[in-house]
Parts: sequence; structure tokens; C-alpha cells
Amino acid sequence: MKKIKFGMVGLGRLGIQHAENIAFKIPEAELTAICAIEEERVEEIKTKWGVPYGYTDFDEMIKNNELDAVFLCSPSHLHCDQIEKALEAGLHVFSEKPLGTTLEECKRAEKAIENHPDKVFMLGFMRRYDPSYVYAKKMIDQGKIGKPFLFRGYSQDPESAIAGAIAYAGHSGGQFIDMAVHDIDLSRWLLDSEPIQTWGIGGCYKHDEFGKHKDGDNVSALLKFKNDAMAFIFAGRTAPHGYNVETEIIGTEGILRIANVPQKNLVEVLDPSGVRKECSQDFLERFETAYVDELKEFVDCIINKRKPEVTVYDGTRTTIVAYACKESFETGKLIDIQEN
Ligand SMILES: NC(=O)c1ccc[n+]([C@@H]2O[C@H](COP(=O)([O-])OP(=O)(O)OC[C@H]3O[C@@H](n4cnc5c(N)ncnc54)[C@H](O)[C@@H]3O)[C@@H](O)[C@H]2O)c1
Repeated sequence: MKKIKFGMVGLGRLGIQHAENIAFKIPEAELTAICAIEEERVEEIKTKWGVPYGYTDFDEMIKNNELDAVFLCSPSHLHCDQIEKALEAGLHVFSEKPLGTTLEECKRAEKAIENHPDKVFMLGFMRRYDPSYVYAKKMIDQGKIGKPFLFRGYSQDPESAIAGAIAYAGHSGGQFIDMAVHDIDLSRWLLDSEPIQTWGIGGCYKHDEFGKHKDGDNVSALLKFKNDAMAFIFAGRTAPHGYNVETEIIGTEGILRIANVPQKNLVEVLDPSGVRKECSQDFLERFETAYVDELKEFVDCIINKRKPEVTVYDGTRTTIVAYACKESFETGKLIDIQEN
């Protein structure tokens, strides 16, 4: 069996996990090259895992004609440029979310993907591959909760990771584009409609540092959808207890809750502080399976010449909605969300 040869771009907080998944968890994939700007890190991983090629320059890596695909886990503002270049070099592309940090970038990525219909492009909205969300979506599609009309999504990073979040704040694009895009995507997917109006609020309740990037440490948005459904989305950086992603979908005949009490596993701890369940501490732990399953899907799409469900247009749409939330947060006004 010919393996799909990957060039991995970015070996940071998340990139190193994707690289490990490519190298060791997908039999049909091979980690052929790695690229990051820290030369020592590239050398370290190359030697440790026996990766054939290491680069500190993306443009050099995509000239390697052994590669079939690139996996982009570089900073968000680089995604669209790298998508364009990789497609032009004849490679399939998986890009981490968000698609881009400006609408103009997203439109350029759309055009590049449309110009290369033979290539597979996939965007990393991994929650759609988490077993619980897959199960919930199936129940909704089977009509088990009637007509879904309200989505509530909380996504909170733990306070223990605040130093990294502050360091990253300058080029994250802001909380709505960086974190809330996951819930924006989930709400569109689970309510099967598009948001048309938003009111964003929030602030710096604990860490003023976010203010200098016109951002908050905790933000939220109310969204009205084309089909009259509602969503409430909350994105925060200061959860005291761990990584907390919880979702509720209310329908006319039933309600689904996913990780309403976030838990690491089924263990209950009875100790001097009482009876408790532990919580995942980061996205790597909570979405471990989803990161592998989204990669399996991408590889399978390449092998079987088909396209994944998550498209570049989901990336553009979530970026438009996230920016509308951000505009509302910054201006205090109710915003009508533009069409594409
Ligand atoms: N899906 C999720 O749950 C999730 C979680 C975290 C991060 N992300 C996304 O993943 C991406 C990376 O985030 P991170 O937290 O791993 O970032 P990070 O800052 O920890 O790592 C960034 C990596 O990119 C590399 N890099 C920087 N500039 C480069 C360039 N010009 N060419 C090649 N490599 C370059 C760096 O060397 C580093 O290895 C971001 O877009 C982020 O939004 C997604």
C-alpha cells in the first residue's frame, strides 16, 4: 500500500500532536517532512522519530516532490498564504482552524481551492469528529429532538494556560476568531442554518492584557439564525478547574447536552475535598480521539478521491460570523451579519 506522505508545518502546542498522529496512529500516512521556525526543535523531532526531511522554511519544504500533502498547524495568519502555495505545488492540504484571520485571506483560499478541484482540502473543525458530537448530530438528523431551536456552547481554556494565551493574543485574531469559531461552526452544523444577526459582549475581567488587542479574556455572543433558531456562545480564558467545552441543543421534542459536567473519565474521586470528578486540562486531552479521526477522514478522502464534509466555505462563513461578533463586542451595536 502506498502511504500518503505528509509534510507537517508547525510543531507547537498542537502541531506536535498532529505530527505524532501522522507518524504513529494512521497506518496509511507517513510523516515525511517537518517544518517549524525553531531549527533545534526540527532537528530534535527529526532525530527522535526518524523523519526523513526537516525544514525551517515552508517554501523549501513544498518543493520536496516526495510529498503528497501538507498539514498546516502554523499561526493562524499564515494559513491562507500557505494553502495557496501548497495547492500550487500540487499538494493536498489540511489546515487547522481558523481558515484565515481576514475575510480577504479566506476568499483567496477559496479561489485557490476552486482552482485545484483534484486536490483534497480540509479544515480542522475537529469537534465534528468527536464521538459525542457525531452521536448528537445523528440524533438530530433522525429527528430525535424534534426541531432544534437553541444552541448553547461554552468553550473555556483553563487559567493555568493563561500565559500562553496572553503571549498568543497579538496574532490570534481575538477570542471570537480564535476560540468561538468552534462553537460558531458547531451551531451552524447542529442547527442546520446560518446566523444572520449578533450581539457580542464581554470584557477583561481578570487579565487586562487582552484589552490592548481590543479583546476580552471572556466574551460571549447571542446569535439569531435564518431559520429563527438562537445561539448563545461563550468563550473564556480563565476557567479555574480545567478545559471546559460544554454544549446544549434544545429542540421541540428533546434536549441534548454534551459534557455538561466536563469530565476526564468515569472515575469519581472521594477524598478530603468531597466527592468529585476530574476535568480534562487542555484541548489535546479532551479531543484526543477527534484529532485522530479528522486525520483519518482526510487520508481516506485522498485515497478514495472524495471530499470531506468540512469545506473552505465553512471556514469563510465562521470567519465572517466571528468578525461580526467581534465588531459588535467592540462597538456595542447589534450587527447584521453580511452574506458571503
Ligand atoms: N483545533 C484546535 O482545537 C486548536 C487548538 C489549538 C490551536 N489551534 C490552531 O493551530 C494553529 C497553531 O496553534 P499552536 O497553538 O500550535 O501554535 P504555536 O505558537 O504553539 O506553534 C506554532 C508553530 O508554527 C511554526 N511556525 C511559525 N511561523 C512559521 C512559518 N512561517 N513557517 C512554518 N512554521 C511556522 C512555529 O515554529 C511553531 O512550531 C493555530 O492556527 C491555532 O488556531 C487549533
